[in-house]
Amino acid sequence: MVTDMAVRPVVVWPDDRLRQPSVEITAAEIANDPTVRQLYQDLVDSMYAENGLGIAALQLGDARRMFIVEPRLAGRDATEPPVAFINPEVVWTSEEQQDSEEGCLSFPEVYVKVKRPLRARVRAFGLDGKSFELEGEALLARCLLHENDHLTGKLLVDFVGPLKRQMIKKKMQRVKGAVEDGEDAEA
Ligand code: NI
Repeated sequence: MVTDMAVRPVVVWPDDRLRQPSVEITAAEIANDPTVRQLYQDLVDSMYAENGLGIAALQLGDARRMFIVEPRLAGRDATEPPVAFINPEVVWTSEEQQDSEEGCLSFPEVYVKVKRPLRARVRAFGLDGKSFELEGEALLARCLLHENDHLTGKLLVDFVGPLKRQMIKKKMQRVKGAVEDGEDAEA
């Protein structure tokens, strides 16, 4: 199992793949399609490689509706695997809000103040094909809503004004330039 390590590069904004419509994973695919489990494993490996708390499939350029959350944040033991959310939907959010800084693996070194509900409940399917619900508060609620946003194409830059958006764009160009050795690969 460890030999299947597959850390894939995280798609960094601006990149059209982060905005593509995501597609449902059918029950038959969860049960029978080995690429669903491979996608989960790639998400796990890539999230841990980047020290993320969660990651969505679109961030690996895969349009299927799946994200994962780090086990401790999701209320599980640290030795347990990250929690898979397949075809997730937000079924409830609290009126009460929270306002704090948020990061994203697709925006390295960028933090944006985002107002979100303090509590949120998400329903999804697990890798076992069973439906479950998870309710989170504070950071967990923020993470669930952030990852769910990814699956709708919504990103951190959609929470900021035009000036900050330009600043982030310049910063991402510097990051990409460093990675790609100056090559202009912007779509
Ligand atoms: Ni993100």
